[in-house]
Amino acid sequence: MIFENLLTAIENGVLTITINRPDKLNALTKKTVEEIGIAVRNAESDATVKAIIITGSGQKSFVAGADIAEFIGLSVEQGKALARSGQVVFKSIENCSKPVIAAVNGFALGGGCELSMACHLRVASENAKFGQPEVNLGLIAGYGGTQRLIEYIGKTKAMELHMTGDLINAEQALSLGLVNHVVPQDQLIAKCLELLEKIKSKSPRAITAVINSVNAYFETNVDGFDAEIEEFGKCFATEDFKEGTSAFIEKRKASFVGR
Ligand code: COA
Repeated sequence: MIFENLLTAIENGVLTITINRPDKLNALTKKTVEEIGIAVRNAESDATVKAIIITGSGQKSFVAGADIAEFIGLSVEQGKALARSGQVVFKSIENCSKPVIAAVNGFALGGGCELSMACHLRVASENAKFGQPEVNLGLIAGYGGTQRLIEYIGKTKAMELHMTGDLINAEQALSLGLVNHVVPQDQLIAKCLELLEKIKSKSPRAITAVINSVNAYFETNVDGFDAEIEEFGKCFATEDFKEGTSAFIEKRKASFVGR
């Protein structure tokens, strides 16, 4: 599928979604967010896609925020609708049944930081910068940032970043627990692929069960322990479980089919 603001490519079962507006530091227009939603939805139903990388075009920016130019003149209701539709897309990333890694190749500000946080894992290049600078515009985060930043770094630092608008560098993001790994820029995609190779070698059914169970911790209307019981139990009906346990007993490497 051809997108206006995204490049997509599938190689070895990994779909790379590249936000492609480098002259605007890959700022997210409404259309771009919609396109990300479509790309993730398509990936869910495409059996050739086993995992997803989301990154930005160029070497300077992952995503420098929502497109500020589109904010001008919005009403209260239009502002709410924008946040609501963005949150639906970002939740679809968070709840994607296939693993999603953000390859953060530069600025991850505002909606960019929020997009990275919607992914299951984050690998940052050494030049990456994270922040929620919306207060500089008289705004706050609207794509889930006030909630997800707390999940990753706790209320103390989340409150500070949201209130000051300060940016943090990749090493600070690593020490706060916001990112999984920091690597030189030229090794960014290779590091993501290395992680995904390992994850792809496991049972896709079990990986989905991990995503569902871990995410349940943060759902207010679901008991996470109950969700874990459900997901754990469902594993026993899968071919992957039979294969994994048989392979262990037979002292061979498991070959999972994702059923
Ligand atoms: N929305 C719209 N356009 C943006 C943008 C955004 N969030 N972030 C950057 N751009 C555009 C700039 O307007 C500029 O466009 P132009 O060349 O047509 O003038 C282009 O991207 C390059 O940005 P520029 O500011 O010249 O680069 P810089 O290296 O001097 O600064 C940043 C980089 C990221 C520090 C700066 O662009 C910035 O502060 N961006 C906004 C960050 C933000 O507030 N995000 C949250 C939005 S809710």
